[in-house]
Amino acid sequence: MRVRGHYLALFDVDGTVRAVQNTCLHVGNPIDDGTVKDGCVTCPWHGWRYDLRSGEHLTVFGRRPGLRTYEVRVVGDDIMVDIED
Ligand code: FES
Repeated sequence: MRVRGHYLALFDVDGTVRAVQNTCLHVGNPIDDGTVKDGCVTCPWHGWRYDLRSGEHLTVFGRRPGLRTYEVRVVGDDIMVDIED
């Protein structure tokens, strides 16, 4: 989804909503159809993995800077994402 110029992907991680930028750092494809396991999403295009808590890119060489993350609050049925810069 796009909110005020931010392209967001929301995931349910063991009952906690996580929001990250919806643009994979590999070639920029969306990651919102990726599979989630152990708190990490795997990009559906070529398999890059990201920790949804920190946004870090998980590589065979370790953790690297990754996706932008956003603070999320759930208020009743509403999901509020802080998109301030
Ligand atoms: S676009 Fe995500 S791994 Fe290639």
